[in-house]
Amino acid sequence: MADDLARRAAELRDQLHFHIYRYNVLGDPIITDAEYDRLYHELRQLEEEHPELIAVDSPTQRAGSDLSEDFPKVRHPAPVLSLANAFDEAGLRAWEERNLRLLPAGTELDYVLEPKFDGLTIVITYENGLLTKAATRGNGEIGDDVTANVKTIRTVPLRIPVRADGPPAPERLVVRGEVLFHKEDFEAVNRQQEAAELPRYVNARNTASGTLKQKDSRITATRPLTAYIYSVLDSVGIVLDKLDKQWDMLEYLREMGFQIPQESQYYPTLSDIIQQLPAWESRRDSLAYEIDGLVVKVNDMRLAIELGVVGKDPRGAIAFKFPSQEATTKLIGVTASVGRTGKITPTAQLEPVFVGGVTVSNASLHNYDQIEKLDVRVGDTIIIKRSGDVIPYVVGPVTGARDGTEEPIRPPELCPFSGDPVIQPPGAVDYYCSNPLCPERVFRQLEFFVSRGAMDIEGMGPETIKTLIDQQLIHDEADIFYLQAEPLLELERFAEKKVQNLMESIERAKDRPLSQFLASLGIDGVGSTVATLLVDHFDSVDALIEIARQAKAAEAAFRQAAASLLQALPEDLSDEADSVTRNVARLRDPLVELAPRYVDVQDIDVRLQRLLKPLYETIGAEADDIATPLKNLVDVAAPLLRIDGLGPVLVENIINWFADEHNRQVIHKMQQAGVKMHAEQKVAASNVLEGQTFVLTGTLPTLTRDEATALIEANGGKVTGSVSKKTSYVLVGDSPGSKAEKARQLNIPTISEAELQAMIAAG
Ligand code: IVH
Repeated sequence: MADDLARRAAELRDQLHFHIYRYNVLGDPIITDAEYDRLYHELRQLEEEHPELIAVDSPTQRAGSDLSEDFPKVRHPAPVLSLANAFDEAGLRAWEERNLRLLPAGTELDYVLEPKFDGLTIVITYENGLLTKAATRGNGEIGDDVTANVKTIRTVPLRIPVRADGPPAPERLVVRGEVLFHKEDFEAVNRQQEAAELPRYVNARNTASGTLKQKDSRITATRPLTAYIYSVLDSVGIVLDKLDKQWDMLEYLREMGFQIPQESQYYPTLSDIIQQLPAWESRRDSLAYEIDGLVVKVNDMRLAIELGVVGKDPRGAIAFKFPSQEATTKLIGVTASVGRTGKITPTAQLEPVFVGGVTVSNASLHNYDQIEKLDVRVGDTIIIKRSGDVIPYVVGPVTGARDGTEEPIRPPELCPFSGDPVIQPPGAVDYYCSNPLCPERVFRQLEFFVSRGAMDIEGMGPETIKTLIDQQLIHDEADIFYLQAEPLLELERFAEKKVQNLMESIERAKDRPLSQFLASLGIDGVGSTVATLLVDHFDSVDALIEIARQAKAAEAAFRQAAASLLQALPEDLSDEADSVTRNVARLRDPLVELAPRYVDVQDIDVRLQRLLKPLYETIGAEADDIATPLKNLVDVAAPLLRIDGLGPVLVENIINWFADEHNRQVIHKMQQAGVKMHAEQKVAASNVLEGQTFVLTGTLPTLTRDEATALIEANGGKVTGSVSKKTSYVLVGDSPGSKAEKARQLNIPTISEAELQAMIAAG
């Protein structure tokens, strides 16, 4: 037993030494920070319980330090302490109990809860209001002087108070906080990297660290670092009597003009905090910055000081760590799935790994372009991330762990389902199966058509659809409305009750309003918002089919008129000026490139002449009359092009979809089956809900989700997907989801459909 422990300690020491070397010397870590922390924590715990196991070379014996030779040193006015960790409720309770035992009997503790920023500690000194020094944590006593770099961070005031109504600057104020990238800004940095054809950064914290320790502060200045300040390390000349609570201290810092953690909250008891932990965890992803946990601080700073310090950890505060969202694992393969548009999406197959509280064995790779950018290969050790309910995704490969056997990943040449060639349309990042009748595509399309947000046909899950396709009972969406009970009853697992329910829900689906019907068709870019826009301007599917037909005819006529012009051009355009190639692109795709600019324009002839001048000059001739067919195209397509919110590409998609022979047949077949596709009555518009934000959950008694959304929006309100402090009301129906619970936790009023109607009616 004792031997086992000694062996484990030695093993942990070896592993940690290796990873410290990889991280610090090679600058090429092969495990995540969280995994490192886990190993380190295990060793420390082992050594605490068995001090005889502490070896002189144990990494725990090395004072934590990030000092670098590049910077002058600064001695901190007080130790820059660290935090002990708790990983669960029991850990927090044990911490409180230990503290209470150290304090006079009857002491009651209240708390401040702050986000635990996943950034780098910074210590900033102000003298008579002026920023004079900024230093990293270093080893806790001495840090690197990074004043020039910190001065480039815009959220760090160069002089305090920033606000005219702020408290007077004390003689000396040394604050402590955290430097980091907001998630959005880190993404922007990566976009810049990509634009410059440089590799993406994988880890925001490491990138922030590298940026803060740039020798040339002009480089730091180009990076959008930010800083949050959460405590005072030292001061001369502030009335500490009035500032003996952490909560008041935060307010003081805010009034001075520092960026403080807005999300911080005061809680009268630890139980209140524990009750709120799940809500905090689900908020994690919606925060602007990465956190790796929460910090619970004893609010009364006098008591916190009285509690003292163990090692480098003050007893008055503790870090509550969330389960790690990142992990490393092996990429064992990549599978390709085909969606309803034929788009091929790669998925990473992983050696199962525990991350963010669950075991994960596949992760999203987005698209093949992304795979190439990340340079991920089969056999690679990769970092994956799982945040909240988001599908786990691949952050990037650990290139240092390669042994040369890794295989690059290429898009498939043939569709894995239909065997047809895979194509990449010009200008697209994605790859597609070239067969519109690919069985997987048809399945996905049907699955989408009947789904909850679309036609909402209950009882028609993916398994049922698969069976119906296999039995050749359905081939397209329209066939659903021709299903008869008898043949279904003969199928396995189709009991009478089930068939009856299915027939009833299909019958109900015939009555869906036009906008819902349109949003169910799976037209690229046409979701419920665009469908509603369309219904505002067209009152039937036939009207859309008619405009599509006319637009295609007008487009063909234009192309014909422009043909002689295009033929007169040299075949190879690479030597021509950009203005010429742009003209050619316009003539080839008049619906997207020309028509939109001439809607409601009188003198199309003159303008077109001017626009095409470079082209005419190149071929030394004038065209046949192309202004007349263009005018015609503009006239025909104008009702669509004029709709605010529909871009030219979307208009073209819509036209192409409704002009397609197969699609028209399917729609006709549905009409024959009695699918009504009726235009809904326009909801009366008002602005009574202006400034109010709603979240929907559960099944409402009369309105569908789309109808409820339309109603709220028509009356000036907004509908969002998740409950936050900014939500005004949660509209609750039958069998509500976790959103109702979350509303309760955040004290957000819940209302019924009837109450919503009453609110609108009351004005
Ligand atoms: S208080 C004595 N508050 O977490 C006070 N630290 O794991 C100790 N951190 O080194 C720090 N967010 O860099 C505190 N709201 C917060 C924090 C925070 C992040 C960091 C800090 C510390 C590390 C401990």
